[in-house]
Amino acid sequence: MAAAINMIIQASHLTKQFKSVRRKEGVLGTLATLFSHDYEFKDAVTDVSFDLEPGELVGYIGPNGAGKSTTIKMLTGILVPTSGHCTVNGIVPWQDRQANGRGIGVVFGQRTQLYWDLPLVESFRLLKAIYGVSQASYDRHLKKFSELLGLDEFMRTPVRQLSLGQRMRGDFAAAMMHEPAVVFLDEPTIGLDVVAKEAIRNFIASVNKERGTTFILTTHDLNDVEKLCARIILIDHGRKLYDGSIDAIKKRYGPNRLLTADFLTDAAGVDIRMPGVAVLERDGQRIRLEFERERVRADELIVALSRQADLKDVTIAEPELETIIRQIYERGLDRSGPAPQ
Ligand SMILES: Nc1ncnc2c1ncn2[C@@H]1O[C@H](COP(=O)(O)OP(=O)(O)O)[C@@H](O)[C@H]1O
Ligand SMILES: [Mg+2]
Repeated sequence: MAAAINMIIQASHLTKQFKSVRRKEGVLGTLATLFSHDYEFKDAVTDVSFDLEPGELVGYIGPNGAGKSTTIKMLTGILVPTSGHCTVNGIVPWQDRQANGRGIGVVFGQRTQLYWDLPLVESFRLLKAIYGVSQASYDRHLKKFSELLGLDEFMRTPVRQLSLGQRMRGDFAAAMMHEPAVVFLDEPTIGLDVVAKEAIRNFIASVNKERGTTFILTTHDLNDVEKLCARIILIDHGRKLYDGSIDAIKKRYGPNRLLTADFLTDAAGVDIRMPGVAVLERDGQRIRLEFERERVRADELIVALSRQADLKDVTIAEPELETIIRQIYERGLDRSGPAPQ
């Protein structure tokens, strides 16, 4: 497979089954558990395959317990898959953890890699030494990261005294200090306020654009994904459901746009009969419509509306990614979206 050579991440049939001893209740139960052969199996990730090209920024999304973190742990070499295979930067992560570590950066929203008792800047100096980053690159990175993430005001504060948002910004800078080609972000904006979220999104976008760093981002926050990622991989119950562009998922599963029209006069008499257009709601001088993006042109619809009464204002909204994805989880991929014509 010649094309595969260009891939910076290759995951092929990745599968992880956790095996644990079934617990028994009480003191005797605890003893019995020690000698038990009664195992419980949990299929956390099943047969997941995907390839990433260098410089891609991909959202890896799914509900709680879908298998996102387990996938990230296999890709970063923390867990060995039960079956299947993957390479990151051409390396099998769990086989060559040192070489792997030099090529990747990791941010787990729930954990920090910073030194709790040291000022932030000391953690950076330690990472510089660990990864053998030259003084010149270190100075350059620190300047750039401080600007993008606003680190200056708390650079000398011990990590334990930082707010969650400050600590996360520190963690991002730390993960990027050795210029990894691939960065894994596992729920990096969880619990953050809007300002910190925005700073972190801008940081990811800028590093991706300027350095061509490849990112995999798992998140609950679909705003993160919509603002950052052209491509998403959806998983549920450990299996891949969808892999493709956000545009395509919207076109396929969220074919309707919403239009709100405000008129200068009462809109009761306004009557739009066009194929692919449906009136959702009437409220005095306002009408809300839904129209099929592939079938109806917004400008033609607006002209048709303006012929019926004087328009004051029109807004058009795209379907929310969140709504579309919730539908896919609830109804499955086949039964979501438009009915076949
Ligand atoms: N060490 C483990 N032992 C047993 N089950 C686990 C372990 N880690 C995760 N799981 C289970 O595997 C499934 C996937 O977990 P995870 O990858 O953490 O999901 P996500 O990150 O998408 O929320 C969940 O049902 C979880 O309870
Ligand atoms: Mg997780």
